[in-house]
Amino acid sequence: MRFSERVVLVTGGARGIGAGCCRVFAKEGAHVAVVDRDASAAETLARSLTGNHTAIVADVAVEDQIRAAVDRTIATYGRIDCVINNAGVHPPDTPLEKMAPEKVMDVLRVNFLSTYAMCYYALPHLKNTRGTIVNISSMTAVLGQRNSTAYAASKGAQLSFTKSLALECADFGIRVNAVLPSNVDTPLMRDWASSLPDPEAALSRIAALQPIGRMADVEEIGRVCLFLATEDSSFITGQGLHVDGGASLDY
Ligand SMILES: NC(=O)c1ccc[n+]([C@@H]2O[C@H](COP(=O)([O-])OP(=O)(O)OC[C@H]3O[C@@H](n4cnc5c(N)ncnc54)[C@H](O)[C@@H]3O)[C@@H](O)[C@H]2O)c1
Repeated sequence: MRFSERVVLVTGGARGIGAGCCRVFAKEGAHVAVVDRDASAAETLARSLTGNHTAIVADVAVEDQIRAAVDRTIATYGRIDCVINNAGVHPPDTPLEKMAPEKVMDVLRVNFLSTYAMCYYALPHLKNTRGTIVNISSMTAVLGQRNSTAYAASKGAQLSFTKSLALECADFGIRVNAVLPSNVDTPLMRDWASSLPDPEAALSRIAALQPIGRMADVEEIGRVCLFLATEDSSFITGQGLHVDGGASLDY
């Protein structure tokens, strides 16, 4: 039980990678605050976990809702030991000339500004626990992605934010790291594939991008987050950890 009686707040925790994180931490004894804009999915997920967990409905694109999610977590458990900034959106592939600048703000608000705001409101509480922050960035943060400039930029912002905040937080005993997945088998991935003429062929093509020959399972990402949240990684901060089955080596 590596997170017994400790508290983790997971944004976008209702499904996909976020749900994988919730399950992994709950198995290690954590109290999980499942923060998601999808109320019923968050409730269902929180109820499916063994232990004392809370579903919190919040749209992380809205600063007040982030503050309220932090306040509710503190009111419920009295502490926060780890924040996982996972909620994110990936707009359909669109070349720059077809994506107006105001649409870019929508992506940045969910994928990056939410991470900033969550850290802003959680930091006083993380100082009390000498906690950790884990940001779910992406391989695209360093490699780029065609027809996904806004998404890649939002993930790049998350990564450089991680490094800078790690420097600020070292004195407080707070470690800040990012996880850079390549392709993970999630509803987001399946929705994308099902928008194409041959979804199964698309998923096979994506699986083959990893030298390991498959996509990641959500709990494989969750276990890396657990590692970054515990003393097992006590000397690691400010890093962007590739969790990609070797994909970034063979791009
Ligand atoms: N799936 C992949 O291959 C992959 C690869 C690299 C990085 N990522 C990143 O991992 C994260 C999770 O991706 P996923 O594939 O699990 O996605 P997903 O769409 O399957 O799940 C995302 C969850 O976040 C929630 N969410 C989205 N916008 C929200 C908002 N504004 N407020 C609150 N909740 C919100 C959704 O309701 C959902 O429960 C994202 O940041 C994504 O960029 C995913």
